Amino acid sequence: MRLAVISDIHSNIAALDAVLGDIERRGISKIVNLGDSLSGPFDAVATADRLIELGLKTVCGNHDRQLFDRPVKDMGVWEHWVIFDLTDANIDWLKKLPMTATEGDVFLCHGTPQSDDENWLDRRGTESRLVARDMAAVEERAKGIDHPVMLCGHTHTPRIVRLNGGRMILNPGSVGCPAYLDTRKAPNFVHQTGAPDARYAILEHRGGVWTADLIAVPYDASHMIELARAKGADSWAQAISTGWFV
Ligand SMILES: [Fe+2]
Repeated sequence: MRLAVISDIHSNIAALDAVLGDIERRGISKIVNLGDSLSGPFDAVATADRLIELGLKTVCGNHDRQLFDRPVKDMGVWEHWVIFDLTDANIDWLKKLPMTATEGDVFLCHGTPQSDDENWLDRRGTESRLVARDMAAVEERAKGIDHPVMLCGHTHTPRIVRLNGGRMILNPGSVGCPAYLDTRKAPNFVHQTGAPDARYAILEHRGGVWTADLIAVPYDASHMIELARAKGADSWAQAISTGWFV
């Protein structure tokens, strides 16, 4: 059994389509989506319509939730780029997404099982960069979940972690946003994977053990770069061009 895991598309329909093509080429028919599907300066409506049509098992990301849980004036800039474009059907789809879900042996959440806006495998370290959490801190957040595989997104950082006993936590990285600046809490925080490729993961149950591959898919981002520049999001244009935040 193979399962493709996508997350943090952030309205980047070109990256999503590249990933979907790669998944199809490998003959994988089942896909789950860990959320943050729509916020970002690209094409939120095309992304929403594609995801609604696909009907993937999907959980709600913090940026998805922020598109419907507050007045527009209180939304962040990532949401302002898309909120006036999205259709009622797009917003209704977001509102119905669960915070967590399961797919057989696999548990899905966006951030942690407890919160859509908390990092699970990494924390903010010095120099505004992510550092790996200690095992106890990772285990603490897995309390109460007894699935052999747990999936999370949110940090845009591809990681595979094993807990005591061999259970796996997998973060597939971000399909559409390889680098960003987080200004919500001082000091500002930079995330960068250092490559522009669209990220996803393939989970496989093989010989009684769950394994995972972290995949990087190059794609043509030129139209997305134009869309970002048209919205004044030059740092996002740079981020999807290079995978670095400048
Ligand atoms: Fe995200």
